[in-house]
Amino acid sequence: MKVNGKEYRSLWFDPDFPDRIFVIDQQRLPFSFLITELTSADDVFLAIRNMVVRGAPVIGAAAAWGLYLASMAMNSGKSVTGQLQQVADYLAKARPTAVNLKFALTFQINRISRNMSAGEITAQLKTGARIYSGQEVEACRSIGMSGLPIIQKAAEGKMGQSVNILTHCNAGWLACIDYGTALAPVYLAAEKGIPVHVWVDETRPRNQGALLTMWELQKAGIPCTLIADNTGGHLMQHGMVDLVLVGSDRTTRTGDVANKIGTYLKALAALDNRIPFYVALPSSTIDFDISDGIKDIPVEERSPEEVLSIRGLSGKEDISVRIAPENARAANYGFDVTPARLVTGLITERGICEASEKGLKSLFPDLMK
Ligand code: MRU
Repeated sequence: MKVNGKEYRSLWFDPDFPDRIFVIDQQRLPFSFLITELTSADDVFLAIRNMVVRGAPVIGAAAAWGLYLASMAMNSGKSVTGQLQQVADYLAKARPTAVNLKFALTFQINRISRNMSAGEITAQLKTGARIYSGQEVEACRSIGMSGLPIIQKAAEGKMGQSVNILTHCNAGWLACIDYGTALAPVYLAAEKGIPVHVWVDETRPRNQGALLTMWELQKAGIPCTLIADNTGGHLMQHGMVDLVLVGSDRTTRTGDVANKIGTYLKALAALDNRIPFYVALPSSTIDFDISDGIKDIPVEERSPEEVLSIRGLSGKEDISVRIAPENARAANYGFDVTPARLVTGLITERGICEASEKGLKSLFPDLMK
């Protein structure tokens, strides 16, 4: 996607600098546009944990590159594959909810074996990380094509007026290397000349909607309006939302969906107002090993500080201010689970399916045991 006329991805590898990867620092947007270089597995771990790199697909890709970077710093006295397995276990713990981390690391570990030399292992991991990142970009492009007909259909009843789409968190290209998940169909619809307007949930506590989704959509010239997190229900009651499009960090084989905290409440409001609620996700986000999202998906709990304070611009300074009394206690659950029964459909790289085991099996018979 373009930033000030130049094509960017949220993460990339430059063969001229084979000892590092480059990421857009999502902690600093939208007030500063900074590129950060990550040169070790520790750098990757911290970038994921501190949300310099965030969003399920891109953190999976970062982890894949993290293993490659680690392979160049291995102690040659010990088993390289054993050491890399330890690094993979470490990187997998950077954030617990998005299954993409585990998926990407397994993809990489499966490419290497004990009988390879250290150089061969590094070469395998480099190619693997390239393939993995490319597949994620392709999957997101295909999600856009799968989801486009939903927006086209919504547009048919609007007599030229904008299709109003509500989204939560940031499920755009920043979160996915390129295109996005929930935003991929929106970008494509806009490209095709379909008038769209996006209601952007601010997405407390870290405000990924206000800070990142608004920035992305503005850069793409897509009409968008920021709303406080509790506004969606009101808009839906007044016919101001045509459909809800969100992403996912982990989807069970039965179609339950974990996404940024607050997604579940939007799904409830959408059902009450008979508004379609779609979840867009690449297959790297599906956890085929689990069936009960509420019971089985680990929900990240982050620092209470993120709830007790808020980041913003004061003059030219990017600052954080406290918004609760001293000694206030706070709880910070990062994700919630929307049960499959509330989901109208899953938009994937292979098309749209019902949010159910049967639906997922119809699209992914090869991945579902
Ligand atoms: O905590 P974050 O910002 O990493 O959470 C991200 C989301 O919840 C996104 O909606 C999710 O990764 C969907 S796909 C881009």
